[in-house]
Amino acid sequence: MKRPVLVTGSSGLIGSEIAMVFHERGYLVHGIDNNQRAVFFGPQGDNRWNQGRLLREIPGFQHHELDIRNRQGILDLVNEIRPQVIIHTAAQPSHDRAADIPFDDFDTNAGGTLNLLQAARLYCPESPFVHMSTNKVYGDKPNAIRLKELETRWDYDDPAHAQGIDEHFSIDQSKHSIFGASKVAADVMVQEFGRYFNMPTCCLRGGCLTGPNHSGVELHGFLSYLIRCNIQQKPYVINGFKGKQVRDNIHAHDVAEFILAFIDSPRAAEVYNIGGGKQNSCSILEAFNLAEKFTGRPQIYSYQDTPRVGDHICYYSDLRKMISHYPKWSITKSLEQTFKEIVEQWHARLRV
Ligand SMILES: NC(=O)c1ccc[n+]([C@@H]2O[C@H](COP(=O)([O-])OP(=O)(O)OC[C@H]3O[C@@H](n4cnc5c(N)ncnc54)[C@H](O)[C@@H]3O)[C@@H](O)[C@H]2O)c1
Repeated sequence: MKRPVLVTGSSGLIGSEIAMVFHERGYLVHGIDNNQRAVFFGPQGDNRWNQGRLLREIPGFQHHELDIRNRQGILDLVNEIRPQVIIHTAAQPSHDRAADIPFDDFDTNAGGTLNLLQAARLYCPESPFVHMSTNKVYGDKPNAIRLKELETRWDYDDPAHAQGIDEHFSIDQSKHSIFGASKVAADVMVQEFGRYFNMPTCCLRGGCLTGPNHSGVELHGFLSYLIRCNIQQKPYVINGFKGKQVRDNIHAHDVAEFILAFIDSPRAAEVYNIGGGKQNSCSILEAFNLAEKFTGRPQIYSYQDTPRVGDHICYYSDLRKMISHYPKWSITKSLEQTFKEIVEQWHARLRV
């Protein structure tokens, strides 16, 4: 009998990668996804193609067309499956989109997470529960760190942050965006179920999570969208900070590998900042150069001075806690490799 794993958001970037990696590890993969990404972002966010890919490539893959806001549906499904691991990646993932749909955002991100936590507590409290959180839980507080302006990027000008942002950084009293606030609620609740009920829960506060299987749109999926614009020769709009704002990019495969390491040796109520770290960081201007290198096409863009509300000027994750707890884990996909894979996948998907 294969061990069951339950992956929410299984048609998305992270969920689909996890489904594949757990299948390769011999698990029976159950995925929950109702293609809500297409509702949030329109046809370009449609993830049915990725759902189809999982059904084709994972023998026995169980797709559940269920909304995580459906409390009874989630309770019944977890009761039926009794998963040995739950990995929760379903979300309204966009900072900017949330302001227009605050009920959908909160009900999905906070309410949906609570539904899953309570189901886990009732039916599989020993099973590791991994939650994809976000660096937006820190709000715009990272922008208060002293910065230096370099030719193509901003960087921290404070030795305390030479390695990036660690997990002790305050999540309080800053501007989070509506999305950031709903993710804080979920993040704290996941920690609470770990502490209060002694469940093996973990929050992964993502920087920029990326890879070839993202349906990147303007409002979410920075590198995927930027590269798509390059390939289709559509203008990319830079919002403020001279295009020197820095993101740390981690390939979904390295996220999945960390989750495997965690479930092999789970801890309770843990929090990790998971991103590409400084080594895999780039500014938007630097991302243009890399995209051009792999597509051979110029990046067409325009600049508008107003930054996105609460956007980070410079953010990269301090990975030392992850590595100290799980020393066998490391970043295996370089930024260049990640760009190359995203370019190849867009060529295949767009047939250009
Ligand atoms: N991609 C990033 O840069 C990034 C950065 C930090 C944190 N995260 C977090 O990681 C997680 C995964 O992100 P992603 O990039 O894979 O997102 P994604 O949009 O590619 O995948 C999420 C999936 O969840 C599904 N979904 C959404 N609402 C649902 C609902 N109510 N019921 C059932 N399914 C639903 C969507 O249809 C989608 O397929 C999210 O929690 C996100 O906040 C992502």
